[in-house]
Amino acid sequence: MIKIKVPATSANMGPGFDTLGIALDLYNEFTVEEIDNSLEFVGFEEAFMNKNNLVYTSMMKTFDVIGYKPRGLRIGISNNIPVSRGLGSSAACILGGVIGANELAGQVLSKQQILEIATELDGHPDNIAPALFGGMTTAVKTNNQVFCDKINLSKGVKLCALIPNFHLATKKARAALPTTIPHADGVFNVGRVALLVTALANGNFDLVKVACEDKLHEPYRGNLIADYENIITKGKSLNPLGIFLSGAGPTIMVLLKEDDVNFNKNITSYLNTLENSWEVKELNVDYSGSTISIV
Ligand code: HSE
Repeated sequence: MIKIKVPATSANMGPGFDTLGIALDLYNEFTVEEIDNSLEFVGFEEAFMNKNNLVYTSMMKTFDVIGYKPRGLRIGISNNIPVSRGLGSSAACILGGVIGANELAGQVLSKQQILEIATELDGHPDNIAPALFGGMTTAVKTNNQVFCDKINLSKGVKLCALIPNFHLATKKARAALPTTIPHADGVFNVGRVALLVTALANGNFDLVKVACEDKLHEPYRGNLIADYENIITKGKSLNPLGIFLSGAGPTIMVLLKEDDVNFNKNITSYLNTLENSWEVKELNVDYSGSTISIV
């Protein structure tokens, strides 16, 4: 049996809409096995034990590309990434499926091909790239290719995810975006995304606060998330390195110096006063990306 371990990811990182992403040390594990003439699911919720299962559909798409026909499949999951919270749970399922299928079919795909198949299935590369390669990545998708690079992230940072007990579907969060933006907003983001990349690579942490600002998606998505403005205002008052919406939300992600102990304590007290429940989860950067083992 083959096991694929895939990290959670936080996409966009403020200004880097559909481009920047970072892998986190929170993992889903998938197992795949070719069996005789049946389809079996292990560890999934009842609602996902059918042919619409994202791991299964991603495997079948990959088998089509390779030209391999499995007799039957047993697919398992150990799920730790919260679903529909902006932490890359769909990207993890897609990568689990694409990598799993490639392993069963004899490892015929390169990592670049895995990146491109998974990005096509997910729609955007900013969760797929870090989940596959680990660390912090930049990625750009053209019509038929994905261009991706890994940032040499400076040591000394950790992350803190503020995860609410409600979901936000990416489709709904993308529908809230305008079809055009003012030129000045584009300029605002271009500068910040460049500044964020150099600041995090060079360890110039004082620049991160301004560099995390965004005008492309956060202003349009905030009102889909209960207490968003209040949490951002409170969060900023505690002086983290930076704060941004994780992917399409609703999780809010905070960049902290690794020795910061006050942020967690203070934001937890504040979140406990709100109507919805919010989990505060400190995370480190995952540098390994997706890994494969035989079990
Ligand atoms: N860049 C995508 C978005 C990430 O913000 O819609 C979705 O996970």
